[in-house]
Amino acid sequence: MAIRDIIILPDKRLRLVSEPVTAIDDAIRTLVADMFETMYDAPGIGLAAIQVAVPKRVVTMDLSRKDEEKQPRVFINPEIVWTSEEANLYEEGCLSIPEVHEDVERPERVRVRWTDLDGQTREETADGLFATCIQHEIDHLNGVLFIDHISRLKRHFITKKFTKMAARRAAE
Ligand code: NI
Repeated sequence: MAIRDIIILPDKRLRLVSEPVTAIDDAIRTLVADMFETMYDAPGIGLAAIQVAVPKRVVTMDLSRKDEEKQPRVFINPEIVWTSEEANLYEEGCLSIPEVHEDVERPERVRVRWTDLDGQTREETADGLFATCIQHEIDHLNGVLFIDHISRLKRHFITKKFTKMAARRAAE
């Protein structure tokens, strides 16, 4: 296992549409193990493979609290098959947009279908933090970031700030 580098806004790869996983092989198992190590190290509660520069439809997640046992979950080729009419407002952040937190409105509940590491198809209705997190991560697989759901003015301000920081890093 290894901690991989997390790519940061405005890295263009964050806008890629990730490819479906066609076989759960050693490369996918290694990717998942590395994603967990990277996510726990960050620390974060969810990670999409594209955030470690791998454009595959893989998501890792752990919504357990600090005082609880770890609850690692893997979603391969996840898709939303139903969304509730009711919406919810949650303050979101993203490991690829560090230190930015904004309220995002999304459907309160979603039904998610995915493949697990054993190749089994699973389905579950998500609500609360799980619903928010899985929608945020599936967005990543489609090249969408949480700042796409906030006002254009705020998105512009955040993108400008990160573009300047990237230019400064490149100049060093
Ligand atoms: Ni994110």
